[in-house]
Amino acid sequence: MRQPFVAGNWKLNGSKQLIKNLLEAILDGSKTIKNAEIAVFSPFLYIQQVAELLEGSSIAYGSQNVSEYNAGAYTGEVSAAMLKEFSCKYAIVGHSERRAIYGESDQQVAQKFIMAQHLGIRPILCVGELLEERESGNTEKVVARQLDAVISAAGINAIEAAVIAYEPVWAIGTGKTATPQQAQEVHAFIRERLSRSNDAVATNVRILYGGSVKPNNATELFAQTDIDGGLIGGASLDAADFLAICQAAN
Ligand code: 13P
Repeated sequence: MRQPFVAGNWKLNGSKQLIKNLLEAILDGSKTIKNAEIAVFSPFLYIQQVAELLEGSSIAYGSQNVSEYNAGAYTGEVSAAMLKEFSCKYAIVGHSERRAIYGESDQQVAQKFIMAQHLGIRPILCVGELLEERESGNTEKVVARQLDAVISAAGINAIEAAVIAYEPVWAIGTGKTATPQQAQEVHAFIRERLSRSNDAVATNVRILYGGSVKPNNATELFAQTDIDGGLIGGASLDAADFLAICQAAN
């Protein structure tokens, strides 16, 4: 049984005050959520504050990125060992904004995945196609390439303890959600791709959908066979919306 999972990616948003208010409201409102796992992803600088606010709760937290390097002359980077020291459970790797704006390659993403996992931090591997890739019929090809880069570098068994997030780039922050059918199709494709290497991994790994998930579309998306929850951007900054999405997964 795959436990439903809702993860809030705050991206480059937040302040000490905003995070305090947001997490207090989420902690209060999540008491009735017993079946779904919840996690939040703040900017690096606030991870310590998030850890303190969430202490003793069942809400997990993690980072939005991680360096592919261990230590050394890599200005501006944060290592997996540092994240481990702050007890991050998860690290998002390969978010489409990292790939598109910061030029992260499939190989770099695979190294980040390996680094996180090596330290016992569960990677949330993001994959997804651009609008032109979907329109030219290349969705599966792109998703397979992104996935295969990690499988060949980390090994198929490494995928089981990780989480995969399918985020069609055209649906991120646009208000244009993939239809539940469009999302389900790609989720099923991902499982099928994984099952070529290992059936158990394909069955057990959680695959989240991300891209304009809101309270009004979450239930139908999460009802799809191969969708195990969501990676939420904009709506995760609003406690009521985020909690409604968590309830949908619950
Ligand atoms: P939105 O929910 O704002 O579309 O963002 C999705 C996302 O990129 C989560 O990682």
